[in-house]
Amino acid sequence: MRNLNQDNITQAVIASFAGTTDPRLKEIMTKLVQHLHAFAREVRLTEEEWFKGIEFLTGCGRITDDKRQEFILLSDVLGLSMLTVAMNNDRPAGCTEATVFGPFHVAGAPRYELGADIANGAKGTPCLVRGTVRGIDGEPVPGAELDVWQSDEDGLYDVQHEGLAEAQARGVLTADGEGRFHFRSIVAVPYAIPHDGPVGAMLDATGRHPWRPAHLHFMVTAPGYETLITHVFRNESDYLDSDAVFGVRQSLVCDWVRQPDGSYLLDYDFVLKPSSASAA
Ligand SMILES: [Fe+2]
Repeated sequence: MRNLNQDNITQAVIASFAGTTDPRLKEIMTKLVQHLHAFAREVRLTEEEWFKGIEFLTGCGRITDDKRQEFILLSDVLGLSMLTVAMNNDRPAGCTEATVFGPFHVAGAPRYELGADIANGAKGTPCLVRGTVRGIDGEPVPGAELDVWQSDEDGLYDVQHEGLAEAQARGVLTADGEGRFHFRSIVAVPYAIPHDGPVGAMLDATGRHPWRPAHLHFMVTAPGYETLITHVFRNESDYLDSDAVFGVRQSLVCDWVRQPDGSYLLDYDFVLKPSSASAA
């Protein structure tokens, strides 16, 4: 393997993976090289542009830590996250649709009793959230676990605030024996994804905005059902038609109803897909 040129280097790199024992890894590496090289050829990538790309990825790595995940943001704004979700969550009609996980979930969030206020001091307009978790045949899912997270009224998640002693506006709840849940929190507002890093610079350079429509994140799990990772979006929110991460599904948009005392009520039921059921 010497004197490789632009006409034969792709096949040489692909051949270098011939000894890969894991067939799926071999397929992924082969296709990655094929498409990466095709991309470079198609845009006639210059050396300066190649180096700019390296600097961009280096910047994403430098700003990423246990609270800031620039690579998920990058995947999100390029639509790769939503494409992957859409390909892997083909559910029967009637099941709640999935959407992007996003970079702000925290494993091990505090557990709350039904009815508790998960805002835990986060700033915002009070909101009661309630609903039922059911299976596709309408059967209640008793004891379903709901992991909930959202931003405060400044558009920031607790992990974006320096020095908070406790989790705010996130928590884990367990539905009752009939699959019902209710908890207090705050009204979600539109927020800008973190745009002070390389991904923000890319959005800026391409004339894109960093905003997401108001939403509440849910991860719903129950034995015998597929895990559902989704959002509930607020109907009157801005940016429903220009979500920076392409995550809006019409079936997830819901009215958050203003109450006489100025608080809000969100009623939303989740429908899970049984683990064994095949997609329609
Ligand atoms: Fe979010």
